[in-house]
Amino acid sequence: MGGAYDKIKAQSKSVEEHYNRTTARIQQIQSQLENAVRSGKLKDKVCVITGVGSLKGIGRASAILFAHEGAKHLYLLDFDPTNLPNLKSTIETKYPDVKVTTMQADAADETAIAGVCEQALREEGRLDVFFANAGIASKDTLENTSVETFMNVMRVNALSCFLAVKHASAAMLKTNASRGKPLSSGSIILTASVAGVRSGAGTIDYSASKAAVNSIAKNSAYQLQKTDIRVNTICPGLIETGMTGDTFDYARQRGTAGKIGQLNPMGRFGVAQEIANAALFLASDDSSYVNAQNIAVDGGLSSSHPVVPGRWA
Ligand SMILES: NC(=O)c1ccc[n+]([C@@H]2O[C@H](COP(=O)([O-])OP(=O)(O)OC[C@H]3O[C@@H](n4cnc5c(N)ncnc54)[C@H](O)[C@@H]3O)[C@@H](O)[C@H]2O)c1
Repeated sequence: MGGAYDKIKAQSKSVEEHYNRTTARIQQIQSQLENAVRSGKLKDKVCVITGVGSLKGIGRASAILFAHEGAKHLYLLDFDPTNLPNLKSTIETKYPDVKVTTMQADAADETAIAGVCEQALREEGRLDVFFANAGIASKDTLENTSVETFMNVMRVNALSCFLAVKHASAAMLKTNASRGKPLSSGSIILTASVAGVRSGAGTIDYSASKAAVNSIAKNSAYQLQKTDIRVNTICPGLIETGMTGDTFDYARQRGTAGKIGQLNPMGRFGVAQEIANAALFLASDDSSYVNAQNIAVDGGLSSSHPVVPGRWA
């Protein structure tokens, strides 16, 4: 054991060296689309994505990737309308073959979610993908978390996913042979979190809401059995987005950025594109037999009990 530990220690790089490596890797991941071939993985698919308004967010990265992969029509929704025109024009400029409809709406509002599913059926005759990604974080300790905060986090994070499953599946059951959909089918993707898998990655209310999301996927897949409508969650680890931006900025200001993401075996944080890649897999027919799963995309974070690096390796 001592020998293995010495070996790991000898191999391990300085914090600075590893951070430089992380920065280079992340730049490479963020520029993947620049020269990537469009392989049409979402050809003909009509998709809804919620929570697309944040410039560094998972929803925006997914919308751009779905457009790159040739989605037919993207319905893109956020509560905050500020960045929606920019997202629409970014996609339309680079991918003029993709139709984009943006809308300011609350992902936890039943009328809005039923409405966007009905709109897709009315305009395109089919709905294929619903990526329920909108979410909020909370910061309070147990003693300071009010009933209002708890219920609001549950509403935005968990109720939104329930409504997505309820209304998207009803729309995905509708067949339309003339639009290339002779049988019911679809993929519903919910953004949960590693916080919904184990403790230690979020507040009680946030973690409970994400555990509910994981449960919604597992249970709804059985309600939708034999329909070819799949429901899965993605459980991101630590991703640099609008939600976590303050933590990253603070660490960079203090000169401790190299410590971010050290709890997972890859020793780095992730970026929105890495979650978008998982969403693309789940949205496309590449995942045609993946159903009722909670898929962690977290650099390995949720795989382990707390670990002393090198101890057992
Ligand atoms: N960033 C992470 O480390 C991390 C880790 C695990 C899970 N997640 C989850 O990923 C999802 C996306 O978050 P992100 O990290 O991209 O954060 P983000 O804050 O960058 O983006 C979230 C987006 O959701 C929108 N939104 C919030 N409430 C809404 C509502 N009621 N209706 C419609 N839109 C709403 C926000 O306006 C924002 O544009 C969330 O569900 C979040 O909980 C993030």
